[in-house]
Amino acid sequence: MKKVVVFGTSYFARLVHVYLTKDSPYEVAAFTLNKEYITEEKFRGLAVVPFEELGNLYPPDEYSMFVAIGYKRVNKARAEVYQTCKDKGYELITYINSKATLWGENEIGDNCFIFENNVIQPFVNIGNNCIIWSGNHIGHDTTIGDHCFIASHAVISGNVTVGPYCFIGVNSTFRDAVKVAPECVIGAGAMILKDTQEQGVYAAKNTEIHPISSSEWRSFK
Ligand SMILES: CC(C)(COP(=O)(O)OP(=O)(O)OC[C@H]1O[C@@H](n2cnc3c(N)ncnc32)[C@H](O)[C@@H]1OP(=O)(O)O)[C@@H](O)C(=O)NCCC(=O)NCCS
Repeated sequence: MKKVVVFGTSYFARLVHVYLTKDSPYEVAAFTLNKEYITEEKFRGLAVVPFEELGNLYPPDEYSMFVAIGYKRVNKARAEVYQTCKDKGYELITYINSKATLWGENEIGDNCFIFENNVIQPFVNIGNNCIIWSGNHIGHDTTIGDHCFIASHAVISGNVTVGPYCFIGVNSTFRDAVKVAPECVIGAGAMILKDTQEQGVYAAKNTEIHPISSSEWRSFK
């Protein structure tokens, strides 16, 4: 079993522990956080050790790491820790769920986490440090840049380019061959039919409330 230290103790780190334990060749050995953020000695029954002391306690020649940080500061929070771990000499693991569909004709970087039911077609390339939550379609010849976070059930057509540091919200749709510029936030249900602007926020409209209430609605009476 390859041993891994997970950076973080958030909801994401809790899921990482479950997925790696039940569906990977990796064993989570410990969690780590910067000293000032440690509030509990244990998480999921394992030690939470100061990142500053990690090299002595869990040295990089014996342990790999995974950085379990979400999309704070448009993914820059995760990118910074990712870089620090690399600088300390750690190998960063990539996890691909056994129920994701890939064809082996893909290049995928390190510190990626690919959840269940993703369909990743041939000739899709995914950069380093990308989190791809459950159930997305990523069409052939699409490129996802470094440090992206893709939520769930996005439909990304073929030949799309997603720049680095993008956040892609649930149920968003991307026309084939569009270019998503770096650091975009694509909101839930957004429809991207044209190239986007760098650091653009693309928020979909919320469905309007109907003036008749549910208790008065004819077919629900
Ligand atoms: C696009 C999206 C990110 C917008 O976020 P939001 O939480 O709805 O919006 P916020 O509460 O941050 O912003 C609300 C308002 O503050 C405004 N605002 C935000 N930052 C501001 C700033 N710096 N200065 C002034 N106003 C600001 C916004 O313009 C907006 O105003 P509006 O309603 O008049 O347009 C959100 O709708 C979305 O789709 N999120 C993704 C959901 C998802 O996929 N979740 C899965 C997670 S794994």
